[in-house]
Order: sequence, then C-alpha cells, then structure tokens
Amino acid sequence: MRTDFENAIKVLKWFADAGVSDVSSEDALSPSIVENDVRSLEDLKRVMETVDTPLKYCAQNMVFGVGNIEAEILFLGEAPGAEEDKQGIPFVGQSGQLLDKALAAIGLDREAVYITNILPWRPPGNRTPSTQEIALFRPLVLKHISFINPRIVVCLGGTAAKALLQSSDGIMRLRGRFTSVEGIAAKILPTFHPAYLLRSPSQKREFWHDFLAIQNEIESDGIYSDCSTNVVQLS
Ligand code: URA
Repeated sequence: MRTDFENAIKVLKWFADAGVSDVSSEDALSPSIVENDVRSLEDLKRVMETVDTPLKYCAQNMVFGVGNIEAEILFLGEAPGAEEDKQGIPFVGQSGQLLDKALAAIGLDREAVYITNILPWRPPGNRTPSTQEIALFRPLVLKHISFINPRIVVCLGGTAAKALLQSSDGIMRLRGRFTSVEGIAAKILPTFHPAYLLRSPSQKREFWHDFLAIQNEIESDGIYSDCSTNVVQLS
C-alpha cells in the first residue's frame, strides 16, 4: 500500500509534469527576501534550495553554477538536463561538450568563465520551463549574475534570452546582437542553445559567428588580460 508521502510525491510529480509550478503559496520570491537575505553566493544557493517548487521533488540534485566566480563572461542556459541532474553540475552532457569546444575555439575554457541556468532544477522529461517557473527564479538569476559581475552575459537559447530580456521575440531575432537589460551591468549576447545545434548543425555557422563576436569583445575590451583564476564548484 502507498504511504501518504508516496501519494503526495505522485501528485506533485503529476503537477510538475504538467508544467504547473504555482501550487505553492508564493508565485514569486518576495523582492525583500532577495534583497535583504541574499548577500553572498552561499546565501543565494541556500535560498534557491528552499524555493517552494514541485520541480525539486522530481529532480535528483540542484544545479547551481560552476566556474570562475570572478569571470568576465557568464553563460546562462535554460535548465539542467538528465546528466546535469545526476552530477549537479551545469552543461556536462552532450550540450556541454559542444559548449566546451566552442569555448576552446576562442581560447577559453570552463576555468575562465562561469556557467549557470535560469532554473536550478531539471524539469521532468526535459520539458521547457513554464512562465511561472521562470518568474519564480528570475530574481535569483539576476542576483546570481550580480554576484559574479561579468562584463558579458551569453544567453544560450531562446528560453534564457527571453527570460533575461523579458522579450517575446524568438532567438532567431534576438541572437547575434549585444543588448542590455535594466538591473544588469553586463552586455548581453543571446545565441543558440548547443542542444539546438546538435539537432540543426547547419546553424553552427551563426553560433560560430556569435562566438567570434565574444572573442572580438574580449580583445577590444582587454578582458582576461588580468583575470586571476578562482574556480569553485558551487553545486
Ligand atoms: N541545457 C541547459 O540549458 N543547461 C544545462 O545545464 C544543460 C543542458
């Protein structure tokens, strides 16, 4: 016979599979919690773990961020996939391998950049994050970016770009142009998600074009000429 706990988990999984994330009492984190209680990356991680969302009952691990906490470039993905969920580290699956290759092609590696996602929990079945889930975590994403304080934020894919820019435009329209958003000092460059390129390799040309724009920015801004390596695994 099922216990009450098992039944509750089953119901929560059903809601999460259906993309419902507002069964909690909060639709979004109160700005005062984010402003007053979150003063460091460690605080942020702790608050993220306590955010009331059914997603966490379906996931194995929270995936926070990885890389150089003094990085000048931050890569923002959508949400963990199966491998990331298993390891608790962003972009360690197939998409991550493609990202690593693109970084190497412009002379960077994971120790020089910082990588995180819009959602820290894997949505069941890798479905696209819902509008409510994005709204719930966006204030924490902004805080995350402000602690790293990069000069460039690269949004990987339409979900990350639309969430950060609060735009309804698709990635085809947004990609390849530096832009800005209120509350973030960094320049923002949307590009394709590596998973999309695995499905549509013909778009790798545009992706490469965007990476060359990053390289150009690095060279013209003197980024990384004085950056120390301070790698942490915050996951
Ligand atoms: N896709 C993402 O958007 N993020 C990850 O961490 C892995 C795959």
